[in-house]
Amino acid sequence: MRILPTVNPTVECISDPAAMQQRAEAVRRQGRRIAVVPTMGALHEGHCSLIRLARTRSDLVITTIFVNPSQFGEGEDFDRYPRDLGRDTVLAQKAGTDIVFVPSREGMYPGGFVTAVDVEKITGVLEGAIRPGHFRGVTTVVAKLFNITRPDLAVFGQKDAQQVAVIRRMVQDLNFGVEIVVAPIVREADGLAMSSRNAYLTPVQRAEAPVLYRSLRSAAALVLAGERDPEAIRRSMIHQISRASSGSVQYVSLADEGNLEEFRVLPGGARVLISLAVKFGSTRLIDNCVLDVPS
Ligand code: PAJ
Repeated sequence: MRILPTVNPTVECISDPAAMQQRAEAVRRQGRRIAVVPTMGALHEGHCSLIRLARTRSDLVITTIFVNPSQFGEGEDFDRYPRDLGRDTVLAQKAGTDIVFVPSREGMYPGGFVTAVDVEKITGVLEGAIRPGHFRGVTTVVAKLFNITRPDLAVFGQKDAQQVAVIRRMVQDLNFGVEIVVAPIVREADGLAMSSRNAYLTPVQRAEAPVLYRSLRSAAALVLAGERDPEAIRRSMIHQISRASSGSVQYVSLADEGNLEEFRVLPGGARVLISLAVKFGSTRLIDNCVLDVPS
């Protein structure tokens, strides 16, 4: 077994997948409810809110920390992704984690590994269109994490709305029997959604970045005022962002929350996911909100 370069002696850390699976099996046999919170570390208040929610819904909270190479594309930030296991385990424990599962790359993807879980269709749009292969990496690692930690429920953040839709689909299609719980987006005081990647922003970009959230609020106000044309809303958001920042908009989407199909007109009573991705230099930021269209 790998010796962890740690850390925090008071929280139980497990790195071996087989040991984690045995531990989870034993807990399940006692009839106790397990919640898992999958993360890639670099924990912030957004992650901690997920852990706190998991705590209220279960008897044992497992937080997983694994920077999953298979969900990063060529030229993405896998190598520079922030890693600080010591700090992460302290934060995870403070938020209510019982066990931190920290597998190694070789532990998760040993030699000869050739299997993948692929959710079709809804992975080809939005983030999936810009980051080919990303969701295949996500669903494969989340399927493995579910099999290793044997959870009753798993908590994910609304911050990654498409990830939630894709994982819900996978759980339903493959009968995982894991309840998916979604936690709201945690924001900085100025509205910027918390993200490990915010640390890459220059001071100027950081000052401009809250325009993503402002554009979502403006969009929501337009819908509430009666606007039903997604194209008009998209144009107005792009205009607001380009006027207030150096960011380049990759997409603005008004789609069905479940199947991610773009609306051509917003139907009354629908739940619309308004999502966007904006690039500041080489840093991509994403944000979203979900809105009930008034009837
Ligand atoms: P990561 O980016 O570390 O995010 C872990 C979880 O924290 C995700 O469910 C994400 O939506 C949630 N999260 C991030 N920022 C948040 C915020 N500001 N408010 C609320 N929740 C937030 O998402 C991943 O890791 C990976 O793809 C993973 C699922 C772990 C698979 O590798």
